[in-house]
Amino acid sequence: MYNSKIIGLGKYLPEHVVTNDDLSQMMDTNDEWIQERTGIKERRWIKEGTDDTSAVMGAKASRMAIDRAGLTKDDIDFIVFATMTPDYYFPGCGVQIQDMLDMKNIGAIDIRNQCSGFVYAISVADQFIKTGMYKNILVVGSEYHSNGLDKSTRGRGVTVIFGDGAGACVLSREEDTTKGILSTHLHSEGKYADKLIVEAPSIKHWVPEIMESKEDLSYFPYMDGTFVFKHAVVRFSEVIIEGLMKNGLQKEDIDMLIPHQANLRIAQFIQKKFGLSNDQVFNNIMKYGNTTAASVIIALTEAWEQGKINEGDNVVLAAFGSGFTWGSVIIKW
Ligand code: ACO
Repeated sequence: MYNSKIIGLGKYLPEHVVTNDDLSQMMDTNDEWIQERTGIKERRWIKEGTDDTSAVMGAKASRMAIDRAGLTKDDIDFIVFATMTPDYYFPGCGVQIQDMLDMKNIGAIDIRNQCSGFVYAISVADQFIKTGMYKNILVVGSEYHSNGLDKSTRGRGVTVIFGDGAGACVLSREEDTTKGILSTHLHSEGKYADKLIVEAPSIKHWVPEIMESKEDLSYFPYMDGTFVFKHAVVRFSEVIIEGLMKNGLQKEDIDMLIPHQANLRIAQFIQKKFGLSNDQVFNNIMKYGNTTAASVIIALTEAWEQGKINEGDNVVLAAFGSGFTWGSVIIKW
């Protein structure tokens, strides 16, 4: 048995900044409401006319992660790609990365777990490394939300929170089993699937049917925000505690918590509940909004770039989102 360890981190954010004031030109919203409820000041949205997509952004973040790992594309044995906004209905973005990075004919899978996508992806990759099947795995989280949002007042409860972006890491074999990813914890509760959902197009509700009716808006994301919020704060706490207990750690042992960037108020609630200082929790939702499967890996990359994560630190990743799905990852950096 081996452990797996993150040896390279990368990110890519589209250049185009959309402020809360920009949104208020499109819909009935305002900077004060958005900042007060979510903490978001601005987000990045892919500008029309650029080539960026979930796969393209994922490839850009991946190149950075592989470079920083000191590896080449030919050292990678497998790809795990998390997104809820794939370029195609099928095939998934994982195979596009294999092509875009001109990699060998290695395996590639896509993870469809929304905001928990990256946590699930890293857990899947970790299992392949633990068993010895693969040595270096590229794990990617990328989202292109902006093209699929309702930018009228009708969609304001959802649209203001989402942003585009990508992150990636290289997970590599670690012989010392006291280091790297110590454990991962995954959960789901499908009875709440309809509380946060993009219902169509789906095989049971296909495109011609949607086009028949002007009132059918089932292709826009629907979210019961208050319901999701209430579940998020409970599940975040539970799954962090589960991870700490599994490893004999206390909350004071957390050196860095990277929560999924869903809403700054959720992160602040967790921070307070666990009695953590500002130095022990990393947030960047203010700049990027909720980038779903990309959020944890973009935040982890930025925390590391800013020197906030050092060797030997106990790093906790945690996420909650549509499904509902939630999970945590406990890392000895
Ligand atoms: N600007 C101005 N007013 C707005 C906006 C807006 N952008 N959006 C909603 N409102 C209005 C509503 O119409 C409502 O008005 P009313 O009282 O007259 O009916 C009022 O503000 C309150 O709306 P709520 O939806 O109750 O607002 P809430 O306080 O719940 O905040 C929010 C909404 C920010 C979305 C919050 O519920 C939230 O963050 N939920 C959790 C999100 C989350 O964690 N998602 C999981 C990850 S996403 C994924 O997995 C894909």
